[in-house]
Amino acid sequence: MAQDLFEAARAAMGRAYAPYSKFPVGAAIRADDGKIYLGANVENLSFPQGWCAEPTAIGNMVMGGGRKIVEIAVIAEKLACCPPCGGCRQKIAEFAGPDTRVYLCDEVGVQKTLTMDELLPFSFQTDVIG
Ligand code: THU
Repeated sequence: MAQDLFEAARAAMGRAYAPYSKFPVGAAIRADDGKIYLGANVENLSFPQGWCAEPTAIGNMVMGGGRKIVEIAVIAEKLACCPPCGGCRQKIAEFAGPDTRVYLCDEVGVQKTLTMDELLPFSFQTDVIG
């Protein structure tokens, strides 16, 4: 059920710290432990030091004991169906599988569902590192 994840992402967006871009983003992960982990973007006066909503949620998941992303919802106040940026795609892929669902939302709910394989085809993978 994606509606609860949408609502969680929307609530997370309310915690965004985005005074520079004024572009609040929220993310909510349902993890393999059944819990929902939240994230919002956290900006910095030294602009490159800020980070996106998705890694906040991933950090919360890891520290909360979750290890796998079952599904993830992303929402941005000013952009319907805001797609995770390139770096975030790789970060999500680290904890996801090709069939992990990614929900892109607008202000009323989930508007687009993608698999990780659709969102990030040909992702960086190698056995050399492990
Ligand atoms: N942002 C995210 O939080 N996630 C994305 O996937 C795209 C961009 C944030 C970063 C920055 O705080 C603001 O949106 C404008 O780029």
